[in-house]
Amino acid sequence: MDKIVIRGGRPLQGEIAVSGAKNAALPLMAAALLTEQTVRLGNLPHLVDIATLANLLTRLGAELHLNGQCAPDGHDGRVLEICARRIASHVAPYDLVRKMRASVLVLGPLLAREGRAEVSLPGGCAIGTRPIDLHLEGFKRLGAEIELDGGYVKATAPNGLKGGEIVFPKVSVGATENLMMAASLAEGETLLVNAAREPEIVDLANLLCAMGADIEGAGSEQICIRGVSALHGAEHTVIPDRIEAGTYAMAAAATDGDLHLLGARADHLAALSELLTKAGVTLEETNRGLRVRRANGRLVGTDAMTEAFPGFPTDLQAQYMALMTTAEGAAMVTETIFENRFMHVPELCRMGAEIVVHGASALIRGKPTLKGAPVMATDLRASSCLVLAGLVAEGETELNRVYHLDRGYERLEAKLAACGADIRRVREA
Ligand code: EPZ
Repeated sequence: MDKIVIRGGRPLQGEIAVSGAKNAALPLMAAALLTEQTVRLGNLPHLVDIATLANLLTRLGAELHLNGQCAPDGHDGRVLEICARRIASHVAPYDLVRKMRASVLVLGPLLAREGRAEVSLPGGCAIGTRPIDLHLEGFKRLGAEIELDGGYVKATAPNGLKGGEIVFPKVSVGATENLMMAASLAEGETLLVNAAREPEIVDLANLLCAMGADIEGAGSEQICIRGVSALHGAEHTVIPDRIEAGTYAMAAAATDGDLHLLGARADHLAALSELLTKAGVTLEETNRGLRVRRANGRLVGTDAMTEAFPGFPTDLQAQYMALMTTAEGAAMVTETIFENRFMHVPELCRMGAEIVVHGASALIRGKPTLKGAPVMATDLRASSCLVLAGLVAEGETELNRVYHLDRGYERLEAKLAACGADIRRVREA
């Protein structure tokens, strides 16, 4: 298994091109199952999770063509054409769903187009139990019958789905996406109430509308979808990855560097920007993206709480904690989205951080520096948190289980090394 070895203490300087957003690209790819025609997605990031979903779509009968490679600076992304002319299988098998929970996003499109789908029930994962009850209750409201059998969700709607009002008891990105896709081909009107408002939801709605769907309100708490009888092919460019951009913004701040994040969108990062400003970091919008550096050399401990968009994202919580480990004073970080997303804390403590966890909150007392150590990542964002800690720490940090990083960060070590980081991947058989 590969490792990443970092020698910390170098300020990051230069430009980083932000890749296409993983969490936008995955539902966009699933949406291609809604039509017999070709959906062309540009700015697709080169990531393991994308390959996993591509594999699943192929097994379901879609034909995929990848045009063009990543540009040397990673800026142009890739272009993927997906044509699901015929659905050959209705089953998302356990071996793929267990690798990536976002596989459940094929449920809505298959059910809406084919009237049936079987998807392995994803188990818990490193950040929490992560049920899919909100997805399933939503499909039931649209008239589907749901059965659980042998670890699989079997959903059927032999007479097609019928529009209805779905009030989500809790905000869910995935359930909003799945229901928005399913409702696009349902008969009549569907109203999603207490919908997620993430930029990835808006990106999906934009693709669906380009495919002929009738959707209003994406980006707000209520989304109205008027079902149509068929969708057609379309072309779409994936939005930039706000979590990747936010991670590098904090890498600039943590190392007292100066990074220009090309393509980063300030409107997707408003909560992070507000928080970092309080912590002594400047995020300046330029005509090419965002420039990030400390305002006056100091980092100040600042409390943060994760929330659904437009709040501070849970996917940046771990990286923010790494930033706070060397800030002046203390910071309280509260996680409200997932119940178990502090697995990076013991690893940060092994690097000399002072962090105490009380339930859903962690109190971080800033130290002048961290010390490099061998560390192990448990999930994607915990991995990037440990990379940030390694960039700051004195001496060498060896990050194991790098495969988590490869699921969600395109060429992370190359992008950081180009800005002066002493970071390398050690390939092991
Ligand atoms: C998406 O996951 C992202 N994944 C996650 O990114 C992200 O952390 C999360 O949204 C929150 O922003 C993708 O977009 C592919 P949710 P999702 O449904 O859709 C509970 C990363 O690192 N819930 O919004 O699965 C759930 O347990 C990842 O890139 C239910 O109770 O998240 C959680 O506590 C990891 N029942 C909360 O809602 C359900 O049916 C929010 O989850 C669904 C969710």
